Amino acid sequence: MAAPIDTEPITLTRYVLEEQRKHPHATGDFTQLINMIQTAVKATSSAVRRGGIHKLYGISGSENKSGDEQKKLDVLSNDLFVNLLKSSYLTCVLASEEEENAIIVETEKQGKYIVCFDPLDGSSNIDCLVSIGSIFAIYKKSTDSPVVESDALQPGSNMVAAGYALYGSATMIVLSVGNGVNGFMLDPTIGEFILTDKDMRIKPRGKIYSINEGYESYWDPPTKEYIKNKKYPESGKPYGARYIGSMVADVHRTICYGGIFIYPATSQSPKGKLRLMYEVAPMAFLIEQAGGLATTGTQPILDVVPTGIHCRVPCFIGSKEDVEDVIALYKKHGYPK
Ligand code: AHM
Ligand code: MG
Repeated sequence: MAAPIDTEPITLTRYVLEEQRKHPHATGDFTQLINMIQTAVKATSSAVRRGGIHKLYGISGSENKSGDEQKKLDVLSNDLFVNLLKSSYLTCVLASEEEENAIIVETEKQGKYIVCFDPLDGSSNIDCLVSIGSIFAIYKKSTDSPVVESDALQPGSNMVAAGYALYGSATMIVLSVGNGVNGFMLDPTIGEFILTDKDMRIKPRGKIYSINEGYESYWDPPTKEYIKNKKYPESGKPYGARYIGSMVADVHRTICYGGIFIYPATSQSPKGKLRLMYEVAPMAFLIEQAGGLATTGTQPILDVVPTGIHCRVPCFIGSKEDVEDVIALYKKHGYPK
């Protein structure tokens, strides 16, 4: 029997509208901005779901039957985010993983928001159908001077909102407007995101660590010691290991089940691999809004001031007590050096 239809669903738009009502001076711009992001996510989700059939996987540059150039999924999702956000009249600077330079929105279309995003993260997983996601962070322009790229270089503590979309066995948007974390599942039959995971909280301690263990020989001593402690604890059971290699999926599992997600500094990549502005900072914001913690090992992620739109930082994010163990180890080993 079909499930009964909820006649009073809390859609993502309704949720954001209600949040906006709590701010007497709100203009409605933020609700519109989230609507634009929702549209980009819905279109990306649709493309991801049809990818194999429409040959969107890994074939950038080839032509389809009508002679149009087919785009790879990551290029397509970037175009969706950029075009929708630029034409919204709500943004002034866009920073995307897919664009070398920040996009300065043309003057007549400028609004007050700055959006940093990774339109399709985990691209190495696209061709084998493993979950991928989109990540975004929203800031406000803090000065009245003409818009420049450096307006985007704000620490995570200034963030107005952050979220991700997970294209997994279902499509979900997880969002924080600085007031806890909520999860909205896409109901494909009506094309709306419905609040299904209210006030998501991360356990104070988990039982899972998530790191690319193949690079162990490149890790610094605190990271090596931390993982050794999880595998060979003096008391209690070892932690389980899970690593999808798709940050959105790994972080989503960490929020749902607890534990820690790590992309550390390595001898090959002293700042780690992941990008601060559109990968690590928004995830840190969400994790902390869910009651967890996020550190570089020596500094809260949300305090890091970006040096450029594509800068990288090491990250340890997840359950509060698990991350506190990491911070203690960095102290013990005399970091920062
Ligand atoms: P991408 O932005 O090129 O997709 O790379 C980011 C991804 C993350 O989703 C994931 O956490 C990480 O790279 C995995 O990297 P590695 O293969 O080095 O473990
Ligand atoms: Mg990425």
